Amino acid sequence: MLGAEMPDSSSAEATEGDFEVSPELHADLGESLRRALRRPQPSIPPRFLYDELGSRLFEVITAIPEYYPTRTEAALLTERIDAILACRPVEGCTLIDVGAGNCEKSARLFDAIRPSHYVPVDVSADFLESALSLLRLRYPTIQMTGVGADFAAGLVLPASIPASRRLFFYPGSSIGNFSRDEAVVFLRSIRAGMGPDGTLWITVDLDKDRAVLERAYDDELGVTAAFNKNVLSHVNRLAGTDFALRDWRHLARYDAAAMRIELYLEAMRDLTVTWPGGSRRFRAGDRIHTENSHKFTTELFGELLTRAGLRTVQVFHDARRWLAFFVAAPV
Ligand code: AVJ
Repeated sequence: MLGAEMPDSSSAEATEGDFEVSPELHADLGESLRRALRRPQPSIPPRFLYDELGSRLFEVITAIPEYYPTRTEAALLTERIDAILACRPVEGCTLIDVGAGNCEKSARLFDAIRPSHYVPVDVSADFLESALSLLRLRYPTIQMTGVGADFAAGLVLPASIPASRRLFFYPGSSIGNFSRDEAVVFLRSIRAGMGPDGTLWITVDLDKDRAVLERAYDDELGVTAAFNKNVLSHVNRLAGTDFALRDWRHLARYDAAAMRIELYLEAMRDLTVTWPGGSRRFRAGDRIHTENSHKFTTELFGELLTRAGLRTVQVFHDARRWLAFFVAAPV
């Protein structure tokens, strides 16, 4: 288990167990990045979008006019919170916030959920730790344990987290970063950590008009472009590459058949990227894949839950039916 081998918190004033960082989080990722850049279809996994600056840029994305998911989800949760709480009670739960970022989505629900323990998990550990230290001051009665971890391969929690009455909150349609099969594997890892009295709250972004989707991932202010291009600075630091950001442009396109937004960085001229021990030539127009954001239908996502050993307790939609919020529980 993650908890067993975690080192003591590095901060002197933090109580032991208040913030845990998975040892793999800071493993040497340079070699696997360089390998992925050498492939015929080069790619950078989306977790690398979230260095400190990337997490801040994503915060800004959630506020831009074209990016509807965050706003739509917040309104849906606010309007339907009573019905959501009524369909499966979660009072006094341990709230596990999957991909917590700045923790704001959960914090807005604290008064309604009244969790006894709050466990935000995020790959951007330093960013999460600063957000959490402020949140502790605002909610001194809720016990809080932060977890810095890359949960793409499955969500594993420290042994110290209470095992019963767990509420997993996976908002924002972040599950869309996974392929359909990976999503099932990930949902199974949540199911495995859940116990019979556990609950999953999860939002998925629904299939919709291409123009709405492509605008949401290529906004006029260029924030998403900056967010995407920033991954190259992060990779430069981790892999020793010498990407020049000005040579690359952001590209978002909707593949309607695969039902997913694909993000790329496209070389704007012929160029060579060099790193210790290697290099790669890119032609103008060559692309590096950086993210998939899968969309769903309500039926399709219900099927993925079933494949993961979960049942749909209730589904909530916003008025435009742009998002679906599922309350799910073990079969
Ligand atoms: C955080 C994965 C939900 O897919 O909409 C936003 C990431 N990328 N704009 C999404 C993202 C570009 C976002 N998720």
